[in-house]
Amino acid sequence: MLQDKPDLVKKYLASIPFDRRLYREDIRGSIAHARMLGARGIITESDADIIIKGLKSIQEEIEQGDFQFRADLEDIHLNIESRLFEKVGDVAGRLHTARSRNDQIASDMRLFLKKETEETIKTLKKLQSSLVELASQNKDVIIPGYTHLQQAQPILLAHHLLAYFEMFQRDIERFRSCLTRTDVSPLGSGALAGTAYAIDPNLVAQELGFSKVATNSLDAVSDRDFVIEYEACAALTAMHLSRLAEEIVLWASDEFRFIRIDEAFASGSSIMPQKRNPDVAELARGKTGRVYGNLVATLTTMKALPLAYNRDMQEDKERLFDTVDTLRSSLQVFAQMIRTVKVDAERTRDAIRKDYILATDLADYLVKKGLPFREAHGVIAKLAGYAIAKEQSFHDLSLNEYRGFSPLFAEDVYAITLESSVASRNTTGATSPEQVELALTRANELIAKIL
Ligand code: ARG
Repeated sequence: MLQDKPDLVKKYLASIPFDRRLYREDIRGSIAHARMLGARGIITESDADIIIKGLKSIQEEIEQGDFQFRADLEDIHLNIESRLFEKVGDVAGRLHTARSRNDQIASDMRLFLKKETEETIKTLKKLQSSLVELASQNKDVIIPGYTHLQQAQPILLAHHLLAYFEMFQRDIERFRSCLTRTDVSPLGSGALAGTAYAIDPNLVAQELGFSKVATNSLDAVSDRDFVIEYEACAALTAMHLSRLAEEIVLWASDEFRFIRIDEAFASGSSIMPQKRNPDVAELARGKTGRVYGNLVATLTTMKALPLAYNRDMQEDKERLFDTVDTLRSSLQVFAQMIRTVKVDAERTRDAIRKDYILATDLADYLVKKGLPFREAHGVIAKLAGYAIAKEQSFHDLSLNEYRGFSPLFAEDVYAITLESSVASRNTTGATSPEQVELALTRANELIAKIL
């Protein structure tokens, strides 16, 4: 196709350096198409057989590394077709009956993405398992919960980790939802208008494992919304992963020291021997940029394209492949890293600044004794100011000092502890050990579900 063009143009137009990755899908699609042409009598059954055998042997050649990919043959479709001519002669010319590269590439991309979306979901589940495992191993560990990165209320570490489980669960559900729209066969749409041959698109769809056949030929060859949807879901997952990465970086810092990252996932410094840098988490955080970028790039490529196929759309591939690969490697490495994290339970407790984190519980205490919450809040604000000025924890204050702020305080105020605080928050989805136990059970059930 490109033989008569200057080298510069050949190189510019060629997609073979990257779309060769679609060889399996392309051959699978061609085999299904050839079989259907034979079954419908559009080509003879024996020609169909010759073509199918030829295609299978090409697949073997590619897999054995014996196939010569040629840039002057532009893309994966023409590379395979040209080799088919070499192998089976002119019969090869019958394969492209009732088909165009436009419905062919749309079909390749959909087959590829169906498989990859299922893989993404599986990998997300592995990461969820690691989080649940770490949570289960550290059920009693209390950490300061933060808002504005200021200590707010005590929570269970397991509760914090399970928050990420939920984010990844929604990510899985989003990917699963995309899958239903990706799972549509564009074959039969031809270049744009459909085909004049008496094809059977359902037969092809069935053989390829598609649940549906496209209902508009122009739409089928010209939209890449299914690619964009995957990239959008990936962007959300990358965002969630990046927040987790950020917390791992923080928690592994000398200031926090809540966790220790296994040496396998950290790196030393070339000049500072004491360092254990959380490079894996940092890099995952950094790669969020390219996942977002790929989404915006594909959206931008597609905007304002007139129907139907335009060559601009060739730009979808590298972006999608990069997103698939980036997400996979980040999720995989995280699933393993989380599994090896060591939690320092003493340290998470010591990190709680005095017991000021119990201020809400003290206010709740006064509310239980009859004070309106707003007033209770005011009393505890003053009490906290007093304790902080004296550099004393609430527990170290005498009952007399307490009573100086409100006569409602009694001996039982000393029963308020980190544990009682956590246990008292026992509403659905809250941080009490009872709720977290329920959440762990639910999480394990969700992980066990297939896809
Ligand atoms: N390499 C092309 C792409 O990825 C395949 C479809 C080419 N179709 C065409 N009419 N030039 O979009």
